[in-house]
Amino acid sequence: MLRVNYDRMNYDKFVLLFSVATLCVLFGLMFMGGYVSASGVGLSCPDWPLCPNGLAPSAEFLIEYTHRTVAASTGLLVLMTMVFVLRSKNSMRSTKVFSIIAATVVFGQIALGATVITERLHAVLVTAHLALGLALYSSLIFVVINTYYTNLRLKSSSASATATQYSDSGFASNGKRTSVRYSQNKSANL
Ligand code: HEM
Repeated sequence: MLRVNYDRMNYDKFVLLFSVATLCVLFGLMFMGGYVSASGVGLSCPDWPLCPNGLAPSAEFLIEYTHRTVAASTGLLVLMTMVFVLRSKNSMRSTKVFSIIAATVVFGQIALGATVITERLHAVLVTAHLALGLALYSSLIFVVINTYYTNLRLKSSSASATATQYSDSGFASNGKRTSVRYSQNKSANL
C-alpha cells in the first residue's frame, strides 16, 4: 500500500515557497541591474568588493551599492535553495541538477560582476553579465516549476492514500459505507 510522509510533504511546500521567494528577489536584482546600466551609474562605486565608504552606503553610489548588496543576499538565497532541494527526498533528479547549476552560476555571476567593475564596463563583459543573469533566472524557474509539480504529485498521492484507507475501513472518502465491506459485515452479523 502507498505510504505518504506528511512531514516531508510540508517540507516540500516550504521548498516551493522558498524557491519562489528567491526567484522574486532575483527578479528585483535583475531589474535593478538594468537600471544601473541604463542610468549609467555602473562605475559610481569604482572599487571592489567594497565602495569607497567601506560598508556604509552613500547617496553617490546608492544604486550600485544596493545592486551589490542584494546580489550577495541573492547568492545566499540561491545557495540555500540548492541545499533545501538536495535535502528533500521527493525532489526529482532534474530539480537537483538545476539547483546545483543555479548555485554555480550565481557565484560565477558575482565574480563576473566584479570583473565588469575592474574592467571598467567592458561591453563584452556587461553582455556576458546579462546573459549569465538570464541563465540563472531560467535555472531557478525550472527549479520552481519542478518543485511545484513535486508538490502536486504528493498532494494527489496523499488524496488517493486517504481514499484507500477509507475504503479499507469500509467507508468511501465521502464518509458513506462501501457496499462490499458493508455487505460482508452484514452477513457476518457485525
Ligand atoms: C546574482 C548576481 C547578479 C545578477 C543576477 C546581476 C544582474 C545584472 C543585470 C541583469 C544587469 C543589467 C545588464 C544590462 O542591462 O546589460 C546588471 C548590471 C550590472 N551589474 Fe549586476 N548582477 C549581479 C551581481 C553583480 C555584482 C556582484 C556586481 C559588482 C560588483 C555587479 C555589477 C553590475 C554593474 C556595474 C552593472 C551595470 C553595467 C553597465 O553599466 O552597463 N552585478 N547586473
